Amino acid sequence: MGAFIIAVDGPAAAGKGTLARRLATELHLAHLDTGALYRATARDVLAAGLDPADAAGAAELAGKLDPASLADPGLRGEEIGRVASIVSVHPAVRTALLDYQRNFAYHPPNEAKGAVLDGRDIGTVICPEATVKLFVTASLEARAGRRLRELETSGAPADAAAVLADLQARDERDSKRSAAPLKVATDAVLLDTSGLDADEAFGAAMSIVRARTRSFGSSQA
Ligand code: DC
Repeated sequence: MGAFIIAVDGPAAAGKGTLARRLATELHLAHLDTGALYRATARDVLAAGLDPADAAGAAELAGKLDPASLADPGLRGEEIGRVASIVSVHPAVRTALLDYQRNFAYHPPNEAKGAVLDGRDIGTVICPEATVKLFVTASLEARAGRRLRELETSGAPADAAAVLADLQARDERDSKRSAAPLKVATDAVLLDTSGLDADEAFGAAMSIVRARTRSFGSSQA
């Protein structure tokens, strides 16, 4: 296979998206936010008036996703995130989204020499042979604080206790589900960003990528 792939996994609001985008820009790699696939499925489930617990209905919509709709800013909302966490529990939904993710990783668009994928199961299920695996995490309090600031900046209503409770519920669902739960791949490097700002987290991630690619004998990063 030989593709250059960076897997960035971790819980909600750990800063993986920002980090993955910056790594991709710096290293001239394509970037896929895999959470957007589950969020878009959630959006389509809600729009169709389906119950998010309906696995077959959600999987059918996941199989028909239009990749062009992944840039929809409406996907970032809290309610969509909550429903995404519910539909992502269904194995049939995960299967429906698998080929798109693998194809992106191994055949990145725009002739990029590789790809950065961020999500929950990239290093464990989607690309177990990724060149570099980062598990980006932060304490619940640090993640809730960041999410709260994001909501405040965007002008959305923000309630500290509700944000904390929502993150806790999502952590629980994402890590306790039986299909591709959130867990640290055995060969992943843990990056705790609790005490780091975005620049420091990026610097730490670049050091890990450089060290890993040196040890693989690659000259690509
Ligand atoms: O990273 P995010 O908040 O955009 O993800 C939304 C939900 O999608 C998350 O709660 C669980 C699910 N998800 C997943 O199950 N697997 C992934 N690779 C990415 C996201």
